[in-house]
Amino acid sequence: KKYVIGVDLGGTKITTAISSLTGDIIEKTTLATGSSLGEEVVLGRLMDSISMVLEASQIKEEEVRAIGIGSPGPLDSKRGVIITTPNLPFKNFDIVTPIKNRFGIPVYLDNDANVAALGEYTFGAGKGAQNIVYMTVSTGVGGGAVLNGRPYRGNTSNALEIGHMTIEPSSKHRCNCGNYGDVEALSSGTAIAKRAREAVEAGIETSLSGIENITSYEVYQAYLEGDKVAMEILDTAFDYLGIAVANLILAFDPEIIVIGGGVSKIGKLFFDKIKESASKRCFSFMVEATRILPSELGQDTGVVGAIALGLIESEEK
Ligand code: BGC
Ligand code: NA
Repeated sequence: KKYVIGVDLGGTKITTAISSLTGDIIEKTTLATGSSLGEEVVLGRLMDSISMVLEASQIKEEEVRAIGIGSPGPLDSKRGVIITTPNLPFKNFDIVTPIKNRFGIPVYLDNDANVAALGEYTFGAGKGAQNIVYMTVSTGVGGGAVLNGRPYRGNTSNALEIGHMTIEPSSKHRCNCGNYGDVEALSSGTAIAKRAREAVEAGIETSLSGIENITSYEVYQAYLEGDKVAMEILDTAFDYLGIAVANLILAFDPEIIVIGGGVSKIGKLFFDKIKESASKRCFSFMVEATRILPSELGQDTGVVGAIALGLIESEEK
Protein backbone atom coordinates (compact mmCIF):
# COMPACT_ATOMS: atom_id res chain seq x y z
CA LYS A 1 0.00 0.00 0.00
CA LYS A 2 1.57 3.20 -1.20
CA TYR A 3 -0.75 5.99 -0.11
CA VAL A 4 -2.11 7.73 2.99
CA ILE A 5 -5.10 10.05 3.44
CA GLY A 6 -5.09 12.94 5.90
CA VAL A 7 -8.16 14.87 7.06
CA ASP A 8 -7.97 18.23 8.80
CA LEU A 9 -11.36 18.71 10.42
CA GLY A 10 -11.56 22.39 11.30
CA GLY A 11 -14.06 24.78 12.85
CA THR A 12 -14.93 26.29 9.46
CA LYS A 13 -13.58 23.85 6.86
CA ILE A 14 -12.52 20.27 6.18
CA THR A 15 -9.32 19.82 4.19
CA THR A 16 -8.51 16.35 2.93
CA ALA A 17 -5.48 15.17 0.99
CA ILE A 18 -4.05 11.93 -0.35
CA SER A 19 -0.28 11.55 -0.36
CA SER A 20 2.57 9.19 -1.02
CA LEU A 21 4.32 7.53 1.93
CA THR A 22 6.84 10.39 1.90
CA GLY A 23 4.06 12.93 2.51
CA ASP A 24 3.94 14.41 -0.98
CA ILE A 25 0.37 15.53 -1.63
CA ILE A 26 -1.22 14.13 -4.80
CA GLU A 27 -4.75 15.52 -4.50
CA LYS A 28 -6.32 17.89 -2.00
CA THR A 29 -9.82 19.25 -1.46
CA THR A 30 -11.50 21.68 0.93
CA LEU A 31 -15.17 21.71 1.92
CA ALA A 32 -17.01 24.13 4.21
CA THR A 33 -18.26 23.06 7.63
CA GLY A 34 -19.44 24.76 10.81
CA SER A 35 -20.81 24.36 14.30
CA SER A 36 -24.36 25.13 13.13
CA LEU A 37 -24.45 21.95 11.03
CA GLY A 38 -25.41 18.62 12.59
CA GLU A 39 -22.97 15.82 13.44
CA GLU A 40 -24.18 13.61 10.58
CA VAL A 41 -23.92 16.44 8.04
CA VAL A 42 -20.33 17.17 9.01
CA LEU A 43 -19.49 13.44 8.96
CA GLY A 44 -21.12 13.18 5.53
CA ARG A 45 -19.01 16.03 4.18
CA LEU A 46 -15.89 14.49 5.68
CA MET A 47 -16.63 11.21 3.88
CA ASP A 48 -17.40 13.08 0.65
CA SER A 49 -14.02 14.78 0.85
CA ILE A 50 -12.31 11.38 1.14
CA SER A 51 -14.25 10.06 -1.89
CA MET A 52 -13.29 13.21 -3.80
CA VAL A 53 -9.52 12.80 -3.32
CA LEU A 54 -9.77 9.09 -4.13
CA GLU A 55 -11.65 9.82 -7.35
CA ALA A 56 -9.47 12.75 -8.40
CA SER A 57 -6.29 10.73 -7.91
CA GLN A 58 -7.82 7.51 -9.32
CA ILE A 59 -6.31 5.64 -6.37
CA LYS A 60 -8.28 2.64 -5.08
CA GLU A 61 -9.24 2.14 -1.41
CA GLU A 62 -7.13 -1.05 -1.40
CA GLU A 63 -4.00 0.97 -2.15
CA VAL A 64 -4.43 3.26 0.90
CA ARG A 65 -2.62 2.28 4.07
CA ALA A 66 -4.39 4.55 6.55
CA ILE A 67 -6.63 7.56 7.08
CA GLY A 68 -5.45 10.03 9.73
CA ILE A 69 -7.90 12.58 11.13
CA GLY A 70 -6.99 15.67 13.10
CA SER A 71 -9.96 17.14 14.95
CA PRO A 72 -10.57 19.74 17.62
CA GLY A 73 -11.11 18.06 20.96
CA PRO A 74 -11.39 17.09 23.70
CA LEU A 75 -11.48 13.60 22.20
CA ASP A 76 -10.54 10.00 22.90
CA SER A 77 -7.99 8.90 20.33
CA LYS A 78 -8.02 5.26 21.53
CA ARG A 79 -11.77 4.87 21.05
CA GLY A 80 -11.98 7.21 18.04
CA VAL A 81 -14.59 9.34 19.79
CA ILE A 82 -14.90 13.14 19.78
CA ILE A 83 -16.07 13.86 23.32
CA THR A 84 -17.05 17.50 22.86
CA THR A 85 -15.77 20.37 20.75
CA PRO A 86 -16.25 24.01 21.62
CA ASN A 87 -16.29 24.85 17.89
CA LEU A 88 -17.99 21.85 16.20
CA PRO A 89 -21.31 20.02 16.80
CA PHE A 90 -19.89 16.68 18.05
CA LYS A 91 -20.89 15.25 21.44
CA ASN A 92 -19.55 11.77 22.34
CA PHE A 93 -19.47 10.96 18.66
CA ASP A 94 -17.70 7.91 17.26
CA ILE A 95 -16.26 9.33 14.07
CA VAL A 96 -13.83 6.51 13.30
CA THR A 97 -16.16 3.48 12.94
CA PRO A 98 -18.42 4.83 10.15
CA ILE A 99 -15.41 5.96 8.10
CA LYS A 100 -13.61 2.63 8.61
CA ASN A 101 -16.78 0.77 7.56
CA ARG A 102 -17.38 2.89 4.50
CA PHE A 103 -13.85 2.78 3.04
CA GLY A 104 -12.38 -0.40 4.56
CA ILE A 105 -9.20 1.45 5.51
CA PRO A 106 -7.73 1.74 9.07
CA VAL A 107 -8.69 5.14 10.55
CA TYR A 108 -6.80 7.03 13.29
CA LEU A 109 -8.07 10.05 15.20
CA ASP A 110 -6.08 12.60 17.18
CA ASN A 111 -6.34 16.21 18.27
CA ASP A 112 -5.79 18.75 15.46
CA ALA A 113 -2.94 20.50 17.25
CA ASN A 114 -1.34 17.18 18.25
CA VAL A 115 -1.24 16.11 14.59
CA ALA A 116 0.02 19.55 13.56
CA ALA A 117 2.88 19.08 16.03
CA LEU A 118 3.57 15.73 14.40
CA GLY A 119 3.43 17.28 10.91
CA GLU A 120 5.85 20.09 11.77
CA TYR A 121 8.13 17.58 13.51
CA THR A 122 8.16 15.18 10.57
CA PHE A 123 8.04 17.53 7.59
CA GLY A 124 8.24 21.17 8.77
CA ALA A 125 9.76 23.69 11.19
CA GLY A 126 10.48 21.05 13.85
CA LYS A 127 12.51 18.72 11.67
CA GLY A 128 15.62 17.45 13.42
CA ALA A 129 14.54 18.47 16.93
CA GLN A 130 13.68 16.00 19.71
CA ASN A 131 11.28 18.17 21.72
CA ILE A 132 8.84 20.48 20.01
CA VAL A 133 5.63 22.15 21.10
CA TYR A 134 3.06 23.37 18.60
CA MET A 135 0.51 26.07 19.27
CA THR A 136 -2.31 27.04 16.93
CA VAL A 137 -4.10 30.38 17.18
CA SER A 138 -7.16 30.26 14.97
CA THR A 139 -10.91 29.84 15.62
CA GLY A 140 -9.71 28.12 18.80
CA VAL A 141 -6.36 27.89 20.50
CA GLY A 142 -4.76 24.45 20.77
CA GLY A 143 -1.46 22.75 21.43
CA GLY A 144 0.46 19.60 20.79
CA ALA A 145 3.89 18.19 21.50
CA VAL A 146 6.44 15.72 20.29
CA LEU A 147 8.66 14.84 23.26
CA ASN A 148 11.82 12.75 22.99
CA GLY A 149 10.87 12.15 19.38
CA ARG A 150 7.46 10.65 20.23
CA PRO A 151 3.97 12.19 19.95
CA TYR A 152 2.81 13.06 23.46
CA ARG A 153 -0.89 12.49 24.08
CA GLY A 154 -1.10 12.22 27.84
CA ASN A 155 -3.46 10.06 29.89
CA THR A 156 -6.78 10.80 28.14
CA SER A 157 -5.22 11.90 24.79
CA ASN A 158 -5.91 15.54 25.61
CA ALA A 159 -2.50 16.78 26.69
CA LEU A 160 -1.86 20.41 25.78
CA GLU A 161 -5.48 21.56 25.60
CA ILE A 162 -3.77 24.89 26.15
CA GLY A 163 -6.61 27.02 24.81
CA HIS A 164 -8.51 26.21 27.99
CA MET A 165 -5.76 27.08 30.48
CA THR A 166 -7.01 29.95 32.64
CA ILE A 167 -4.69 32.93 32.44
CA GLU A 168 -7.00 35.69 33.74
CA PRO A 169 -9.30 34.29 36.45
CA SER A 170 -11.17 37.56 36.95
CA SER A 171 -11.92 37.98 33.22
CA LYS A 172 -15.52 38.45 32.09
CA HIS A 173 -14.74 36.93 28.70
CA ARG A 174 -16.27 33.49 28.37
CA CYS A 175 -14.98 30.64 26.23
CA ASN A 176 -17.24 28.30 24.24
CA CYS A 177 -16.09 25.61 26.72
CA GLY A 178 -17.82 27.54 29.51
CA ASN A 179 -14.69 28.74 31.29
CA TYR A 180 -13.82 32.41 31.78
CA GLY A 181 -10.48 34.03 31.05
CA ASP A 182 -8.80 31.10 29.32
CA VAL A 183 -6.31 31.56 26.47
CA GLU A 184 -8.96 30.93 23.81
CA ALA A 185 -11.45 33.42 25.29
CA LEU A 186 -8.75 36.08 25.40
CA SER A 187 -6.62 35.63 22.32
CA SER A 188 -8.08 33.33 19.63
CA GLY A 189 -9.03 34.74 16.23
CA THR A 190 -12.64 34.53 17.42
CA ALA A 191 -11.83 36.53 20.56
CA ILE A 192 -9.97 39.23 18.61
CA ALA A 193 -12.89 39.65 16.21
CA LYS A 194 -15.35 39.69 19.10
CA ARG A 195 -13.44 42.44 20.95
CA ALA A 196 -13.50 44.52 17.75
CA ARG A 197 -17.26 44.07 17.32
CA GLU A 198 -17.83 44.91 20.98
CA ALA A 199 -15.86 48.15 20.58
CA VAL A 200 -17.87 49.09 17.48
CA GLU A 201 -21.15 48.32 19.22
CA ALA A 202 -20.11 50.38 22.24
CA GLY A 203 -19.73 53.34 19.87
CA ILE A 204 -15.99 53.73 20.45
CA GLU A 205 -14.30 55.62 17.63
CA THR A 206 -12.38 53.24 15.38
CA SER A 207 -11.71 52.75 11.68
CA LEU A 208 -13.09 49.22 12.14
CA SER A 209 -16.69 50.44 12.35
CA GLY A 210 -17.44 50.17 8.63
CA ILE A 211 -16.46 46.53 8.41
CA GLU A 212 -19.29 43.97 8.37
CA ASN A 213 -17.48 40.78 9.25
CA ILE A 214 -14.43 41.84 11.15
CA THR A 215 -11.67 39.23 11.32
CA SER A 216 -8.34 39.34 13.13
CA TYR A 217 -6.72 40.28 9.83
CA GLU A 218 -8.82 43.46 9.49
CA VAL A 219 -7.92 44.34 13.05
CA TYR A 220 -4.28 43.95 12.04
CA GLN A 221 -4.78 46.22 9.00
CA ALA A 222 -6.31 48.88 11.27
CA TYR A 223 -3.41 48.39 13.69
CA LEU A 224 -0.95 49.21 10.90
CA GLU A 225 -2.86 52.42 10.22
CA GLY A 226 -2.47 53.37 13.87
CA ASP A 227 -6.05 52.68 14.98
CA LYS A 228 -5.98 52.88 18.80
CA VAL A 229 -8.74 50.32 19.37
CA ALA A 230 -7.10 47.79 17.05
CA MET A 231 -3.74 48.33 18.75
CA GLU A 232 -5.22 47.80 22.19
CA ILE A 233 -7.04 44.63 21.09
CA LEU A 234 -4.05 43.00 19.42
CA ASP A 235 -1.48 44.06 22.02
CA THR A 236 -3.67 42.56 24.73
CA ALA A 237 -4.24 39.31 22.81
CA PHE A 238 -0.53 38.92 22.03
CA ASP A 239 0.39 39.63 25.63
CA TYR A 240 -1.82 36.76 26.77
CA LEU A 241 -0.36 34.48 24.09
CA GLY A 242 3.08 35.39 25.45
CA ILE A 243 1.95 34.26 28.90
CA ALA A 244 0.80 30.96 27.39
CA VAL A 245 4.14 30.56 25.61
CA ALA A 246 6.07 31.31 28.83
CA ASN A 247 4.02 28.64 30.61
CA LEU A 248 4.73 26.13 27.83
CA ILE A 249 8.46 26.86 28.06
CA LEU A 250 8.37 26.40 31.84
CA ALA A 251 6.41 23.14 31.52
CA PHE A 252 8.27 21.48 28.64
CA ASP A 253 11.57 23.35 28.07
CA PRO A 254 11.30 22.51 24.36
CA GLU A 255 13.90 23.24 21.69
CA ILE A 256 11.28 24.70 19.40
CA ILE A 257 7.79 26.16 19.72
CA VAL A 258 6.07 26.29 16.35
CA ILE A 259 3.11 28.66 16.13
CA GLY A 260 0.54 28.32 13.36
CA GLY A 261 -3.13 29.04 12.69
CA GLY A 262 -4.82 31.97 10.94
CA VAL A 263 -3.87 34.66 13.46
CA SER A 264 -0.15 33.78 13.21
CA LYS A 265 -0.24 34.89 9.57
CA ILE A 266 0.05 38.44 10.93
CA GLY A 267 3.73 37.54 11.00
CA LYS A 268 6.56 39.60 12.50
CA LEU A 269 4.45 41.78 14.81
CA PHE A 270 2.72 38.67 16.19
CA PHE A 271 5.98 36.84 16.89
CA ASP A 272 7.84 39.91 18.25
CA LYS A 273 5.07 40.78 20.71
CA ILE A 274 4.68 37.19 21.91
CA LYS A 275 8.42 36.82 22.52
CA GLU A 276 8.51 40.16 24.34
CA SER A 277 5.65 39.13 26.60
CA ALA A 278 7.04 35.61 27.21
CA SER A 279 10.43 37.03 28.22
CA LYS A 280 8.76 39.05 30.98
CA ARG A 281 7.07 35.95 32.42
CA CYS A 282 9.78 33.35 32.42
CA PHE A 283 13.53 32.93 32.97
CA SER A 284 14.85 34.91 30.05
CA PHE A 285 17.64 32.41 29.29
CA MET A 286 14.99 29.75 28.78
CA VAL A 287 13.01 31.94 26.40
CA GLU A 288 16.21 32.80 24.53
CA ALA A 289 17.10 29.13 24.24
CA THR A 290 13.71 28.31 22.71
CA ARG A 291 13.30 28.87 18.99
CA ILE A 292 9.83 30.31 18.47
CA LEU A 293 9.08 29.72 14.81
CA PRO A 294 6.19 30.16 12.38
CA SER A 295 4.66 26.99 11.04
CA GLU A 296 6.55 25.91 7.93
CA LEU A 297 3.68 23.94 6.43
CA GLY A 298 1.39 26.97 6.56
CA GLN A 299 -2.22 26.20 5.80
CA ASP A 300 -1.31 22.57 5.08
CA THR A 301 -0.07 21.97 8.65
CA GLY A 302 -3.27 20.26 9.74
CA VAL A 303 -3.67 18.03 6.73
CA VAL A 304 0.04 17.11 6.53
CA GLY A 305 -0.10 16.40 10.26
CA ALA A 306 -3.06 14.07 9.72
CA ILE A 307 -1.06 12.31 7.00
CA ALA A 308 1.87 11.97 9.45
CA LEU A 309 -0.55 10.48 12.00
CA GLY A 310 -1.78 7.91 9.49
CA LEU A 311 1.79 7.03 8.53
CA ILE A 312 3.11 6.69 12.09
CA GLU A 313 0.12 4.82 13.53
CA SER A 314 -0.07 2.31 10.67
CA GLU A 315 3.66 1.66 11.01
CA GLU A 316 3.35 1.00 14.73
CA LYS A 317 0.49 -1.44 14.46
C1 BGC B 1 -10.09 22.78 21.24
C2 BGC B 1 -8.78 22.07 20.96
C3 BGC B 1 -8.25 22.45 19.60
C4 BGC B 1 -8.22 23.95 19.43
C5 BGC B 1 -7.81 24.35 18.02
C6 BGC B 1 -9.92 24.26 21.02
O1 BGC B 1 -11.13 24.90 21.23
O2 BGC B 1 -10.51 22.53 22.58
O3 BGC B 1 -8.94 20.67 21.03
O4 BGC B 1 -6.95 21.90 19.45
O5 BGC B 1 -9.48 24.51 19.69
O6 BGC B 1 -8.69 23.87 17.06
NA1 NA C 1 -3.67 18.93 21.98
